[in-house]
Amino acid sequence: MITSVLNTAELRKDFPLLEQSVNGKKLVYLDNAATTQKPKEVLEALNTYYEEYNSNVHRGVHLLSQKATDAYEAARTNVAAFINAKHSHEVIFTRGTTEGINLISNTFGRMFLQKGDSILITAMEHHSNIVPWQMICEERGATLKVLPIDDDGVLKMEELPALLDDKTKLFAFTYVSNSLGTVNDVHEIIAQAHGKNIPVLVDAAQAVQHMKVDVQHLDADFLVFSGHKIYGPTGIGVLYGKEQWLNVLPPWQGGGDMIKTVSFEKTVYNELPYKYEAGTPDVSGAIGLSAAITYLNGIGLEAIEESEHELIQYALEKLTAIEGLTFIGKAKDRAGAISFLLNGIHPFDVGELLDKQGIAVRTGHHCTQPLMDIFNIPGTVRASFAFYNTREDVDLLVAGVRKAAQMLS
Ligand code: ALA
Repeated sequence: MITSVLNTAELRKDFPLLEQSVNGKKLVYLDNAATTQKPKEVLEALNTYYEEYNSNVHRGVHLLSQKATDAYEAARTNVAAFINAKHSHEVIFTRGTTEGINLISNTFGRMFLQKGDSILITAMEHHSNIVPWQMICEERGATLKVLPIDDDGVLKMEELPALLDDKTKLFAFTYVSNSLGTVNDVHEIIAQAHGKNIPVLVDAAQAVQHMKVDVQHLDADFLVFSGHKIYGPTGIGVLYGKEQWLNVLPPWQGGGDMIKTVSFEKTVYNELPYKYEAGTPDVSGAIGLSAAITYLNGIGLEAIEESEHELIQYALEKLTAIEGLTFIGKAKDRAGAISFLLNGIHPFDVGELLDKQGIAVRTGHHCTQPLMDIFNIPGTVRASFAFYNTREDVDLLVAGVRKAAQMLS
């Protein structure tokens, strides 16, 4: 179908996986916050790498190694341009969002966190932006503080100034909530944190695929995201860090590539970005991620944002009409995910019945157990959208939820 800004029907043809039946029904893939499907361009880039120039990077003088190194470093440059990093060496390839956050919690935490200090997060973080901070706080004798949310799943910004006190060493928060779909006022948050000289880590895992993210415009100190949620392969991710931070912080993992010289007495560490990329990196993952970014640039993030916004408004309107359906997360500014519950019915039961109708959603706590505790629920049914989803997908979801409600009530 044609939305006002994107020819979704045409674009869907780029995604071979979407052309299949599940349980005898047309697949309706609405689990994009967990992982997105991959366009042919990404699959071809992976295939070409393995068929034509698979080799290790930064090591060999032979042609294949040079080709692999060039492609890997071109991927870094492409990512840097995508997020508008000032320098490509501010882009560190990781295994994903989780590894990026662990890298900063381990290096920044060990360098700057003292007994009595605190790290600030928000109530809507997923486990990857909670547990690494809990671990380092425990190790350093520091406290983990949490900016609360209101009943709509919106940050209580009025409580932020008091939490940004002189003991707070870093504020780590999500750009977009994976469970609620809330888009946070990231510019305002960063302005307030920087007003008190507190650096920020932005978890952009649920943002970069839905809207233009510009690290310089945001003035983010650190920003992380995963390749597989932005139409790239699994196992690759990005940590962006301002040069002045990454130069100051110590290395994290030791091994090949992150060294200049090694003796049994002493190791001299490599410069950025290699200082943080120990061992053979995920060369194919970086190349695949770069292909995904080039593909997205071809469509345009602005068009994607507008198209998805329109689709989410349509979905909210249609789902609202279902009796007994309650939304969990009612922020006005939203992207990606819609979470809901059906009166008295466990989300797993709804998810199973939807699956029988070929509709893939995620059910459960979405790796945000503390957030579910705040709402006093075991979990939600979550439909999460990509630009390739259509109004027809939404109509099938709504029909599926109605059917589930009838069968289970
Ligand atoms: N990957 C997790 C999700 O599905 C966090 O939202």
